[in-house]
Amino acid sequence: MSELHVMDHPLIRHKVAIMRDKNTGPKEFRELADEVATLMAYEVTRDLPLEDVEIETPITKAKFKMIAGKKMGIVPILRAGLGMLDGVLKLIPAARVGHIGLYRDPETLEAVEYYCKLPTDVEERDLLVVDPMLATGNTAMEAIKFIKERNPRSIKFMALVAAPEGIKKIQDAHPDIDIWTAALDEKLNDHAYIVPGLGDAGDRLYGTK
Ligand code: URA
Repeated sequence: MSELHVMDHPLIRHKVAIMRDKNTGPKEFRELADEVATLMAYEVTRDLPLEDVEIETPITKAKFKMIAGKKMGIVPILRAGLGMLDGVLKLIPAARVGHIGLYRDPETLEAVEYYCKLPTDVEERDLLVVDPMLATGNTAMEAIKFIKERNPRSIKFMALVAAPEGIKKIQDAHPDIDIWTAALDEKLNDHAYIVPGLGDAGDRLYGTK
């Protein structure tokens, strides 16, 4: 069963609270998204396997733990997921980066993948799919479905703000996928915005509307 991890670190809570403020402009919003993504990456990577490595310090040789060559990939869902990419890469600089973009066909209402480029050796990689807002969960659910067709070793999903509806959608469709979110909000409104949320994350990141 998929596990849900809701961050309770004071720094994360503080920074997300500033992001929620409608008076926070795009520059500060982007910086905060970046910082929160970095802090979350620290938690998401907590289970990385370690191996013994011999290191010679100025005093002596000894064995120390280092990450056991795990191959990772980060996949932002376009466009708002890009706001979390650099923050994660700061902690996992060797990760490869994929991108996926979806739109909803206005007639069939089906999610259509318009862009998907994943690392060439995706079958050997553990992927972290990032998108700031897990609202209805439709986009994330479909993105994960398309990514699974490329057979990565594993997938984790990371959001900044999630609604219970979105969590349930992912957990029902992809029970093998663990979810990390900086905040778990109350609900969705009639326009599928998260309440209290922070508005449209893409618009807030890039100053568009
Ligand atoms: N997407 C957003 O950017 N914000 C929401 O509240 C819901 C979906």
